[in-house]
Amino acid sequence: MLGTNLTLAANLLRNDQVVAMPTETVYGLAGNATSSTAVARIFEAKNRPLFDPLIVHIADLAQVNQLATSVSPTARKLMTAFWPGPLTILLPKQDSVPDLVTSSLPEVGLRMPNHPLALELIRTAGVPVAAPSANLFGRISPTTAQHVEDQLGDRIDYILDGGPCQVGVESTIIRAHDDKIEVLRFGGITIEDLHQATGLPVITATRTIDESTGQPMSAPGMLTSHYAPLTPIEIIDSRELIPRLQQFSHQRIGLLIGQPIESPLSSNITLECLSETGNLVEMAANFFAALRRLDAANLDILYATPFPNQALGRALNDRLQRAAAKRK
Ligand code: TXA
Ligand code: MG
Repeated sequence: MLGTNLTLAANLLRNDQVVAMPTETVYGLAGNATSSTAVARIFEAKNRPLFDPLIVHIADLAQVNQLATSVSPTARKLMTAFWPGPLTILLPKQDSVPDLVTSSLPEVGLRMPNHPLALELIRTAGVPVAAPSANLFGRISPTTAQHVEDQLGDRIDYILDGGPCQVGVESTIIRAHDDKIEVLRFGGITIEDLHQATGLPVITATRTIDESTGQPMSAPGMLTSHYAPLTPIEIIDSRELIPRLQQFSHQRIGLLIGQPIESPLSSNITLECLSETGNLVEMAANFFAALRRLDAANLDILYATPFPNQALGRALNDRLQRAAAKRK
């Protein structure tokens, strides 16, 4: 069921049920993070392997100390600068955090989402909320309540509708050291933002994990294939795009581009242009919804051109590469 009844959603959370909740990044599949039963239901609802840990969402800074054993000064600084917002910070976990939440890893990922309904829901439920993106495992992340309904409507009790997500890509995941910041997943807070707020070097620890091993991941969100449409998708350099389109003119092609291109397109091409003005914030906000529309359009193949490799463009390129990666 899809609606705006926050009391109902909070009661379901208190009863260890899962509900979809809006955040500024993507919709999350929320459950009581202190209950192994609720957390198990999240994994079940999205067919998620148990080795892929969940981010815990909080609404008040006081909750940090209930979940983490220590907080570095850099982590504190980043919380002040970016919370509520699309930044997940890995911290050593308290024993009270169920192992299921962190897939037995020693750290827990914490984030305070910047969405009024998410914050109110967490406060009303009175518990921290574990929430992965509210899609089936490996598939495209949802940025509207309807996206969640389409994919998980018959598997979960309630979808709290908070409108379309403003940021559109997931949170940035980091470790905050005294002398550097380690980025494990590019996302809504950019490397440039992190450096500016702290003056510290920002290094990327992105590492690709082989999903067939089933080992606990030391780095998050790193499955080679992720965010994937069912239609084959290929990334293609913008210089090679037009010749390729001409070569395959007999196919029904979906084209995903960040900003307008000069060339006229023939009628076999379905176009999704994410920003008329080439604005990266707008591109991010539109990305997953556009990918979904193309995937639903019954096309033979999707082509996408890379984004500028800066700011939010890095997060978008990361999503695109994983969407295009071959599934094992
Ligand atoms: O913006 C977001 O982060 C969204 C919204 C709903 O908050 N959530 C989200 O969750 O993207 P999910 O589960 O789709 O991706 C979270 C990633 C996972 O790939 C997981 O492996 C990693 O974060 N992660 C979570 N907790 C971790 C931990 N304790 N240690 C290492 N990686 C962790
Ligand atoms: Mg996800």
